[in-house]
Amino acid sequence: MNTLHVPALPDFWWPRSFNTWPLPTLGEPEVGNSTLLMEGIPLEGGMPFYHESILLDKVLEYLAPAEGKIFADGTLGGGGHTEALLEKGSCVKGVDRDADARKYASERLSRFGHRFEAVAGRFSEMSRLSEEGKWGQLDGILLDLGVSSFQLDEAQRGFSFRFDGPLDMRMGESEVTAADLVNEWSEPDLMKIFFELGEEKASRKIAAWIIQERSKTPFETTLQLADGLEKLLGRRGRTHPATKVFQALRMTVNDELGELRRFLNSAADLLKPGGRLAIITFHSLEDRIVKQAFRHASKVEIDQPEWPAARPNPDLRYRLITRKGVAPDGAEIKHNPRSRSSRLRVVEKILPTSSS
Ligand SMILES: C[S@@+](CC[C@H](N)C(=O)[O-])C[C@H]1O[C@@H](n2cnc3c(N)ncnc32)[C@H](O)[C@@H]1O
Repeated sequence: MNTLHVPALPDFWWPRSFNTWPLPTLGEPEVGNSTLLMEGIPLEGGMPFYHESILLDKVLEYLAPAEGKIFADGTLGGGGHTEALLEKGSCVKGVDRDADARKYASERLSRFGHRFEAVAGRFSEMSRLSEEGKWGQLDGILLDLGVSSFQLDEAQRGFSFRFDGPLDMRMGESEVTAADLVNEWSEPDLMKIFFELGEEKASRKIAAWIIQERSKTPFETTLQLADGLEKLLGRRGRTHPATKVFQALRMTVNDELGELRRFLNSAADLLKPGGRLAIITFHSLEDRIVKQAFRHASKVEIDQPEWPAARPNPDLRYRLITRKGVAPDGAEIKHNPRSRSSRLRVVEKILPTSSS
């Protein structure tokens, strides 16, 4: 059967400074017969496309799923990574804060019966979810951070500047929306998130413009903000001028860095000795948080200039499996441009020693 590869939409690339890859070109789709396949899911008469899983082969290589093993996928999304773990005979607890994702994945994965369970919640509260669900110690945990293509492509969710929708951006049941932030936050606070989370050079100008505009009309829709930013900043090559502002707002609304930090503090206790933790990041700040947490928790000894000698690291929990972040290869980037800035890092829980 011929296959029609649908290229992912190229609007939501991270700022160029976040990666070193050249911009991919989107090839013409290969047109086959009338059946459309994406991740093996027929779009006609089957389930609609949700999200293309990133670094899938690498995730399988490092997590080594097999019959009798139990995993938690903290970012279930469309269930692509989870499906691959289930196909190898494992059991998976799939956590997502987004009800649409859980509904979609539950349907997609229903054929695996009791081996799959969709769990409502945030991955930062995985310890509680595990206790309540009596998961026991896990063979592996996966996080694939960020938004799914489905979330981006649903106008009503308000994540994308490509469609008009409410300026919302909540993945789950957060208290605040993106509209709340742009209409209520102070100029310095807005400037700070645009600069720090978006690496937006024009953050000062943008924050000042927002304060001025919202005094006339509050911001309510995605295009109101995106079109205004385009007028303010002009077109910047192939990247939409609203990209970095939308990214910063989304990360703030969903407290994405806070979620990651809280998860990292408790993740080791969820794993069996020998169990692995794999995290895919899409943003330089996320990658730095993961890299530093993994490095610290895998140092046998720590030292400080004022100490007479190095001391055993009381936080030692892991062995590093990947020394550098694993990036997608050129073929994956060409096929799925959204994978471009992804990096995978993996650690393995070590046996507790008497000193740790
Ligand atoms: C990139 S998608 C995951 C795609 C998935 N790996 C696949 O192959 O289909 C990220 C998903 O994680 C969810 N998510 C993001 N942050 C979360 C958090 N802190 N807790 C729970 N789910 C979260 C989002 O709602 C989204 O559905």
